[in-house]
Amino acid sequence: MDIKTVGVVGCGLMGSGIAQTVAEGGFTTIVREPTQELLDKGLERIRSFLAKGVDKGKTTPARRDEVWACIRGTTDMADLADCDLVIEAIVENRDAKKAVFAELDRICKPSTVFATNTSSFRVAEIAAATKRPHLVGGLHYFYPPVINKLLEVIRTNDTAPEAFEMLLSFGRLSGKLPILVRDSPGFAVNRFFIAWYNEAIRLLDEGVANIPTIDVAVCEAFGLGMGPYKLINVSGVPLAYHAAVSLTESIGDFYRPARHLRQLYESGQLWDLSGEVDPARKQAVADRLLAVVCGVAARVAEEGVATVEDVDRGATIGLRWAKGPFAIMNDMGLERALALMGPIEDAHPGFIPDLLRQQVASGQPWTLRHVRLAIDGAIAHITMSRPEALNALGSKVLHELKDALAQVRANRAVRAVILSGEGDAFIAGADIKEMQALAARPAAIREFTELGLGVLRDIETLPQPVIAAINGFALGGGLELALACDIRIASSTARLGFPEVGLGIMPGLGGTQRATRLAGRGVASELVLTGDLIGAEEAARVGLVNRVVAPPQLMATARRLADRIASRAPVAVAKSKAAILATQRLPLDEGLAFELDRSSEVMATPDRVEGMQAFIDKRPPVFTGTEPQ
Ligand code: HXC
Repeated sequence: MDIKTVGVVGCGLMGSGIAQTVAEGGFTTIVREPTQELLDKGLERIRSFLAKGVDKGKTTPARRDEVWACIRGTTDMADLADCDLVIEAIVENRDAKKAVFAELDRICKPSTVFATNTSSFRVAEIAAATKRPHLVGGLHYFYPPVINKLLEVIRTNDTAPEAFEMLLSFGRLSGKLPILVRDSPGFAVNRFFIAWYNEAIRLLDEGVANIPTIDVAVCEAFGLGMGPYKLINVSGVPLAYHAAVSLTESIGDFYRPARHLRQLYESGQLWDLSGEVDPARKQAVADRLLAVVCGVAARVAEEGVATVEDVDRGATIGLRWAKGPFAIMNDMGLERALALMGPIEDAHPGFIPDLLRQQVASGQPWTLRHVRLAIDGAIAHITMSRPEALNALGSKVLHELKDALAQVRANRAVRAVILSGEGDAFIAGADIKEMQALAARPAAIREFTELGLGVLRDIETLPQPVIAAINGFALGGGLELALACDIRIASSTARLGFPEVGLGIMPGLGGTQRATRLAGRGVASELVLTGDLIGAEEAARVGLVNRVVAPPQLMATARRLADRIASRAPVAVAKSKAAILATQRLPLDEGLAFELDRSSEVMATPDRVEGMQAFIDKRPPVFTGTEPQ
């Protein structure tokens, strides 16, 4: 499903930000408000946001103009008829949203996909206003949508897989970090976020602590710059109140707005943040809020609304918490987390999810993966999934990658691998923070380096070819990893380089060796010795990447290539890969002898018989990958 033109219905605070991020993704963006006055106001908001970006040096005048040129305003819904995707971002009113979707359904072409930015209604309920619920999902942006990278991509029971994939890839292409969420009240993040602030106010109701004590204790416990009371003052009391009411209606009493929240809402005032912090009461506050957040987060995972990794990402990226609930539980120990939930279970029986009890019984912490392995037919996708650190290679990541590669190696059905990164980076290098901590002990840093070298050798010696789909930064160890792959396809926005000498170190995962072999001594020297980054086109010109494609084409190009390789005789492919690799260590005569040996082995395979016979019979071959007898 191709996306070129995107409609945004509503150009208020959220809608204007959404329209801007869509335009920043290079999509033709048509934004609609019902009156010229509202439209002008919304467009002005975008214009001034873009101008501020230039003033602050975050963007260039040329880029501002490029983004602005992608945006067109209209008051006529009919102008959205040919959009490939329409995102609704009007006021949070169920009937108004349904009316918009019913109208869009009548107007838009049959293939248009619809998404709602609702934060409190079920997507399925809104989708039911259309005759195409299979083409409706949720795109839940976080404030401010231009800056906040988190995007909850929501699927209902009816959302077709292709439509969901389209929404996910749209999210990525417009610079967001999508998390996959099942349609459920509060989705993944608001579910524990609302519980978090509501419980903070219940503590006030119960007289456990005063407002400044609660704000300070919560900031310390969750690694935040702003506590719940200050945050509500900034983001609006009505929003906080209505969100809790909405979850009470759909989930139950646990979310009923705290008494002080209701009173504040009714009085139309803001929290009075003045007063003395009482250090003696901070622990009680922290314990209660940690327990509530961790319990609700585990419930979200238990219900299959989102994975533990995505819940944590929602907290760290969407809410800017230092850690997500599952990482917090791992840090404090699951038994302690469970013990803290005791009083909440007493007040709200059934609060503790079975999933948490089972995890405690297993004696293991939560598994939070930074490397995802997905096998789709003959193709394995390995995705570096630590976007909050630009997929930096720490030892945990390296171990997980090693494990994923071992699984691929053992899986005879896999014929090619695509390796890419989630978010803005392919991999922005080895983890500098971890290296800084390790480097005081020479043996430890050497061990870390050897681990990395071993993983890169695992890639190189994997029988299945590996294609690096370089979606963004490929720096230092990240570029070294890409160079260990067989083929490199880069998105036109990718940046590559070896910044190591600027950190006082040198490439240590084979950069001096593989870059020189691939691009020659002059190119490698310039890159390594200056530490300068180059763009994708330049990388292709010097032979570091095979080709450059527009960002939307990256994964599709890698997939086409992988499919081509997967259609060939697997043993012939694997042994060809090994022979090509052998050129790195063997002089020509020995290389030719190596090739002859491999070629003789391939000649003895049933796939050679099949391949040649198929040619003679003028039919496509059917390869089995059976090893030589
Ligand atoms: C650890 C990293 C990281 C890295 C980025 N991050 N690169 N963490 N190791 N290599 C983290 C940042 O600290 C930050 O987290 C978050 O990712 C986002 O990065 P920003 O810097 O805020 O993003 P941006 O301003 O867009 O800049 C992008 C960037 C920059 C230009 C790529 O992040 C950068 O210069 N990174 C380091 C690149 C590098 O030097 N790589 C080579 C590493 S050495 P917080 O929590 O702070 O927000 C190496 C040696 C291998 O690879 C050999 C070993 C033996």
